[in-house]
Amino acid sequence: MLRGRELLASEIASQVAEHQPYGGVVPEVASRHHLQRAPQLLARAVAAAGISLGEVDAFAATSGPGLASSLMIGASLAKGLALGFGKPYLAINHMEGHLLSPFFGTAEGIRPAIALVVSGGHTLLIEIEAFGCYHLLGQTQDDAAGEAFDKVGKLLGLPYPGGPNVDRMAREGDAARFDFPRSMLDSDDLNFSFSGLKTAVRYLLPKLETINLPDVCASFQEAVVEVLVTKTLRAVKATRRRVVALSGGVSCNSRLREAMRTACAARGVELLVATPALCTDNAAMIGYVATLKLAHGESSSLASDIDPNLRLVA
Ligand code: KG4
Ligand code: ZN
Repeated sequence: MLRGRELLASEIASQVAEHQPYGGVVPEVASRHHLQRAPQLLARAVAAAGISLGEVDAFAATSGPGLASSLMIGASLAKGLALGFGKPYLAINHMEGHLLSPFFGTAEGIRPAIALVVSGGHTLLIEIEAFGCYHLLGQTQDDAAGEAFDKVGKLLGLPYPGGPNVDRMAREGDAARFDFPRSMLDSDDLNFSFSGLKTAVRYLLPKLETINLPDVCASFQEAVVEVLVTKTLRAVKATRRRVVALSGGVSCNSRLREAMRTACAARGVELLVATPALCTDNAAMIGYVATLKLAHGESSSLASDIDPNLRLVA
């Protein structure tokens, strides 16, 4: 819940414990969980914000991309509230939420920037010209960065989700111990590829007498981070933008944050990264995009549908 630039409440019902026994997200479990927890979550947000639902100016929900059965529950709830209270409904692209989250709470609002959005399903390098005006510069050709972290975590027997656990392990490891491939580092585009890296980890493991988990994690992570940072700064150079906006769940990664901070500082480029709570999936980033759209006079039809494959940029 937001009032202008002020965050009144951002409640999360984590499903990590429910999916952990399966080592990944099970769609059926996810939608049941959404259905059961959404009303409590709404009540918690209203209580934390200290306002009544009748005072809310507009209701927003993610309309995609994502799992259809989960998207439908959020969208139906927001539409029901909009209808019941006679207020506008806004269908929001989940990736636009991530993309703009680093600007949330900043005095200047949305500024031209190079954005790296790294989540469980996406790895996007985007040039932001203004709110609503985005140009795709590059994206992954196979696995997303977060997907690579999660798959490698699974290969190493770490609990789901792999990303935060690989990050934690890597802190004690030697990043130079294994020389994993930096796929597409020298390609003359701004695209990424992470599936070869995951395969390299898979082939390495049986060859090791003892597996030093921290060293494998640190070396793998370094390979991902080096490519992400190098290509982001290459995009900065090509476009002459002076701001980098880093977002998505993988932007919680401590080594990525550190390496991006160092690289940006060395070139006098400003780095915007959201707080970790706003980097992983959250409602505040969706609310932020909704307030921007409302300010531009936009709203969505109650007849608008969800779209599991919704794109942010062509
Ligand atoms: O943005 P997000 O919360 O959900 C999606 O929209 O996908 O991103 C989740 C992804 C997962 O792959 C998770 O492992 C990864 O972000 N992640 C991390 C870290 N924290 C979350 N990856 C690496 N290091 C982290 N600290
Ligand atoms: Zn997300």
